[in-house]
Amino acid sequence: MMVQRTFSIIKPDAVNRNLIGEITARLEKSGLSVIASKMLHLTTEQAAGFYAEHEGKPFYETLITNMTAGSIIVQVLEGEDAVAKNREVMGTTDPEKAAPGTIRKDFAVSMQKNSVHGSDSPESAAREIAYFFNENEIYPR
Ligand code: TYD
Ligand code: MG
Repeated sequence: MMVQRTFSIIKPDAVNRNLIGEITARLEKSGLSVIASKMLHLTTEQAAGFYAEHEGKPFYETLITNMTAGSIIVQVLEGEDAVAKNREVMGTTDPEKAAPGTIRKDFAVSMQKNSVHGSDSPESAAREIAYFFNENEIYPR
């Protein structure tokens, strides 16, 4: 076990339903600390750059549309095994298959509007954090 950073997004579908607090509470209760946070409204170019790995997939256009449909909260989370812990608290991509008590099971609308993003590896986390934050915007405990 090691202290690690990961990157989280509270997506437009969740921000629009006033779920910022409830989702952040779930993350904090799991032992993760929010060490950076801000609200943004992504441009199509920013969303496309962030999700470049999915370009060409059947769901890509819808993904970009949904990610630019409203404001988002981007956060850096820190804690023991932060990448895996965040993915566990989020639940799997399809909310219908997500485990009880996970954010996606309890709050997501659909696979396309699944309320949260979380980095899938430490390498993704480093890339995604750098995409949205300068080091001087991050406040480790
Ligand atoms: P992915 O990185 O596979 O999922 P996760 O967010 O769990 O890491 O996909 C990115 C997003 O793309 C996902 O959160 C929702 C959307 N998506 C779909 O709309 N349909 C799909 O079949 C997949 C795989 C993803
Ligand atoms: Mg992913």
